[in-house]
Amino acid sequence: MSALSVEQVHGSDLDLKKALLEADLPTDDIEDEGRTFFRIVSDDNQTVGFAGLEACEDDKLLRSVVMLPGQRRKGFGHAAVSAALVHVEPGRDVFLVTTNASPFFARLSFIEVQRENLPAAVLATRQLSSLCPSSATIMKLTRPPT
Ligand SMILES: CC(C)(COP(=O)(O)OP(=O)(O)OC[C@H]1O[C@@H](n2cnc3c(N)ncnc32)[C@H](O)[C@@H]1OP(=O)(O)O)[C@@H](O)C(=O)NCCC(=O)NCCS
Repeated sequence: MSALSVEQVHGSDLDLKKALLEADLPTDDIEDEGRTFFRIVSDDNQTVGFAGLEACEDDKLLRSVVMLPGQRRKGFGHAAVSAALVHVEPGRDVFLVTTNASPFFARLSFIEVQRENLPAAVLATRQLSSLCPSSATIMKLTRPPT
Protein backbone atom coordinates (compact mmCIF):
# COMPACT_ATOMS: atom_id res chain seq x y z
CA MET A 1 0.00 0.00 0.00
CA SER A 2 1.32 3.45 -0.91
CA ALA A 3 1.69 6.21 1.68
CA LEU A 4 -1.51 8.11 2.31
CA SER A 5 -2.21 11.64 3.37
CA VAL A 6 -5.37 12.97 4.96
CA GLU A 7 -7.04 16.30 4.23
CA GLN A 8 -10.03 17.68 6.09
CA VAL A 9 -12.91 18.57 3.75
CA HIS A 10 -16.27 20.25 4.27
CA GLY A 11 -19.53 18.38 3.88
CA SER A 12 -20.20 20.43 0.75
CA ASP A 13 -17.26 18.78 -1.05
CA LEU A 14 -18.64 17.51 -4.37
CA ASP A 15 -16.29 14.52 -4.58
CA LEU A 16 -17.39 13.43 -1.11
CA LYS A 17 -21.05 13.67 -2.02
CA LYS A 18 -20.53 11.77 -5.28
CA ALA A 19 -18.61 8.96 -3.55
CA LEU A 20 -21.32 8.60 -0.90
CA LEU A 21 -24.17 8.63 -3.41
CA GLU A 22 -22.47 5.99 -5.56
CA ALA A 23 -22.05 3.78 -2.48
CA ASP A 24 -25.67 4.35 -1.35
CA LEU A 25 -24.53 6.04 1.85
CA PRO A 26 -26.50 8.94 3.39
CA THR A 27 -25.83 12.46 2.12
CA ASP A 28 -28.91 14.32 3.43
CA ASP A 29 -27.13 15.56 6.55
CA ILE A 30 -23.50 15.92 5.50
CA GLU A 31 -23.58 19.72 5.58
CA ASP A 32 -25.12 19.88 9.07
CA GLU A 33 -23.10 21.15 12.04
CA GLY A 34 -20.83 18.81 14.02
CA ARG A 35 -19.57 16.71 11.13
CA THR A 36 -15.90 16.43 10.13
CA PHE A 37 -14.87 14.73 6.90
CA PHE A 38 -11.49 13.53 5.67
CA ARG A 39 -10.31 12.94 2.12
CA ILE A 40 -7.77 10.13 1.87
CA VAL A 41 -5.14 10.82 -0.80
CA SER A 42 -2.53 8.45 -2.22
CA ASP A 43 1.10 9.41 -2.72
CA ASP A 44 0.42 10.01 -6.43
CA ASN A 45 -2.19 12.59 -5.41
CA GLN A 46 -5.28 10.50 -6.23
CA THR A 47 -8.31 10.58 -3.96
CA VAL A 48 -8.86 7.00 -2.79
CA GLY A 49 -11.77 7.62 -0.43
CA PHE A 50 -13.32 9.46 2.48
CA ALA A 51 -14.22 9.00 6.13
CA GLY A 52 -16.13 11.18 8.58
CA LEU A 53 -16.87 11.75 12.23
CA GLU A 54 -19.98 13.17 13.83
CA ALA A 55 -20.05 14.59 17.35
CA CYS A 56 -22.58 12.98 19.75
CA GLU A 57 -21.98 14.74 23.08
CA ASP A 58 -19.33 12.56 24.80
CA ASP A 59 -19.02 10.06 21.94
CA LYS A 60 -18.45 10.04 18.18
CA LEU A 61 -20.21 8.47 15.25
CA LEU A 62 -17.85 7.14 12.57
CA ARG A 63 -19.65 7.62 9.27
CA SER A 64 -19.26 8.10 5.54
CA VAL A 65 -16.43 5.57 5.28
CA VAL A 66 -16.15 4.97 1.56
CA MET A 67 -13.32 3.96 -0.72
CA LEU A 68 -13.73 4.67 -4.42
CA PRO A 69 -14.73 1.50 -6.32
CA GLY A 70 -11.34 1.07 -8.04
CA GLN A 71 -9.50 1.54 -4.75
CA ARG A 72 -11.05 -1.16 -2.59
CA ARG A 73 -9.32 -4.20 -1.07
CA LYS A 74 -5.97 -2.40 -1.01
CA GLY A 75 -5.90 -1.64 2.72
CA PHE A 76 -7.06 1.96 2.23
CA GLY A 77 -10.30 1.43 4.15
CA HIS A 78 -8.48 0.30 7.27
CA ALA A 79 -6.04 3.19 6.90
CA ALA A 80 -8.91 5.68 6.48
CA VAL A 81 -10.64 4.50 9.66
CA SER A 82 -7.36 4.70 11.58
CA ALA A 83 -6.77 8.21 10.25
CA ALA A 84 -10.24 9.34 11.35
CA LEU A 85 -9.84 7.79 14.81
CA VAL A 86 -6.73 9.91 15.39
CA HIS A 87 -9.18 12.80 15.69
CA VAL A 88 -11.18 11.17 18.51
CA GLU A 89 -10.15 12.16 22.03
CA PRO A 90 -8.95 9.25 24.23
CA GLY A 91 -11.71 7.65 26.27
CA ARG A 92 -14.51 8.56 23.88
CA ASP A 93 -16.43 5.64 22.45
CA VAL A 94 -16.98 5.46 18.70
CA PHE A 95 -20.20 4.14 17.20
CA LEU A 96 -21.18 3.38 13.62
CA VAL A 97 -24.07 2.01 11.64
CA THR A 98 -23.60 -0.20 8.61
CA THR A 99 -25.84 -2.25 6.38
CA ASN A 100 -23.19 -4.46 4.79
CA ALA A 101 -19.66 -3.90 6.09
CA SER A 102 -19.80 -5.21 9.67
CA PRO A 103 -17.05 -7.84 9.03
CA PHE A 104 -14.75 -5.04 7.82
CA PHE A 105 -15.33 -3.05 11.02
CA ALA A 106 -15.14 -6.14 13.24
CA ARG A 107 -11.56 -6.58 12.04
CA LEU A 108 -10.92 -3.11 13.42
CA SER A 109 -12.20 -4.18 16.88
CA PHE A 110 -15.72 -2.75 16.58
CA ILE A 111 -18.31 -4.98 18.23
CA GLU A 112 -22.04 -5.15 17.55
CA VAL A 113 -24.33 -3.40 20.04
CA GLN A 114 -28.10 -3.25 20.37
CA ARG A 115 -30.07 -0.02 19.92
CA GLU A 116 -31.38 -0.19 23.49
CA ASN A 117 -27.82 0.09 24.82
CA LEU A 118 -26.91 3.24 22.92
CA PRO A 119 -26.32 6.66 24.48
CA ALA A 120 -29.24 8.99 23.76
CA ALA A 121 -27.07 11.36 21.72
CA VAL A 122 -26.00 8.54 19.39
CA LEU A 123 -29.57 7.29 19.04
CA ALA A 124 -30.67 10.82 18.16
CA THR A 125 -28.26 11.21 15.21
CA ARG A 126 -29.98 11.37 11.85
CA GLN A 127 -28.05 8.29 10.75
CA LEU A 128 -29.60 6.26 13.57
CA SER A 129 -32.97 7.91 13.79
CA SER A 130 -33.96 8.23 10.16
CA LEU A 131 -31.37 7.74 7.42
CA CYS A 132 -30.29 4.13 7.99
CA PRO A 133 -32.73 1.20 7.97
CA SER A 134 -33.71 -0.22 11.33
CA SER A 135 -32.22 -3.53 10.22
CA ALA A 136 -28.73 -1.98 9.98
CA THR A 137 -25.98 -3.20 12.29
CA ILE A 138 -24.77 -0.83 15.01
CA MET A 139 -21.22 -1.22 16.24
CA LYS A 140 -19.09 0.27 18.96
CA LEU A 141 -15.36 0.72 19.54
CA THR A 142 -14.45 1.22 23.18
CA ARG A 143 -11.36 3.36 23.51
CA PRO A 144 -9.53 3.35 26.83
CA PRO A 145 -8.48 6.64 28.41
CA THR A 146 -4.73 7.15 28.09
C1 LIG B 1 -16.15 -1.03 3.41
C2 LIG B 1 -15.00 -0.36 2.63
C3 LIG B 1 -14.78 1.06 3.15
C4 LIG B 1 -13.74 -1.19 2.87
O1 LIG B 1 -12.66 -0.52 2.27
P1 LIG B 1 -11.44 -1.32 1.64
O2 LIG B 1 -10.40 -0.33 1.26
O3 LIG B 1 -11.93 -2.24 0.59
O4 LIG B 1 -10.96 -2.19 2.89
P2 LIG B 1 -9.49 -2.70 3.21
O5 LIG B 1 -8.79 -2.99 1.93
O6 LIG B 1 -8.81 -1.80 4.17
O7 LIG B 1 -9.82 -4.03 4.01
C5 LIG B 1 -10.23 -5.09 3.24
C6 LIG B 1 -10.69 -6.18 4.16
O8 LIG B 1 -11.96 -5.86 4.70
C7 LIG B 1 -12.91 -6.82 4.27
N1 LIG B 1 -14.02 -6.10 3.69
C8 LIG B 1 -13.99 -4.97 2.96
N2 LIG B 1 -15.23 -4.58 2.62
C9 LIG B 1 -16.06 -5.49 3.16
C10 LIG B 1 -17.47 -5.66 3.19
N3 LIG B 1 -18.30 -4.79 2.58
N4 LIG B 1 -17.98 -6.71 3.85
C11 LIG B 1 -17.15 -7.59 4.43
N5 LIG B 1 -15.82 -7.49 4.46
C12 LIG B 1 -15.29 -6.46 3.83
C13 LIG B 1 -12.30 -7.71 3.24
O9 LIG B 1 -12.55 -9.05 3.60
C14 LIG B 1 -10.83 -7.40 3.30
O10 LIG B 1 -10.15 -8.44 3.92
P3 LIG B 1 -9.15 -9.32 3.02
O11 LIG B 1 -8.18 -8.35 2.43
O12 LIG B 1 -8.55 -10.27 3.97
O13 LIG B 1 -10.04 -9.94 2.01
C15 LIG B 1 -15.26 -0.35 1.10
O14 LIG B 1 -15.57 -1.66 0.68
C16 LIG B 1 -16.39 0.58 0.69
O15 LIG B 1 -16.17 1.76 0.44
N6 LIG B 1 -17.63 0.05 0.62
C17 LIG B 1 -18.81 0.85 0.23
C18 LIG B 1 -19.22 1.83 1.32
C19 LIG B 1 -19.51 1.15 2.65
O16 LIG B 1 -20.16 0.12 2.72
N7 LIG B 1 -19.00 1.78 3.73
C20 LIG B 1 -19.21 1.32 5.10
C21 LIG B 1 -20.45 1.91 5.72
S1 LIG B 1 -20.08 3.27 6.80
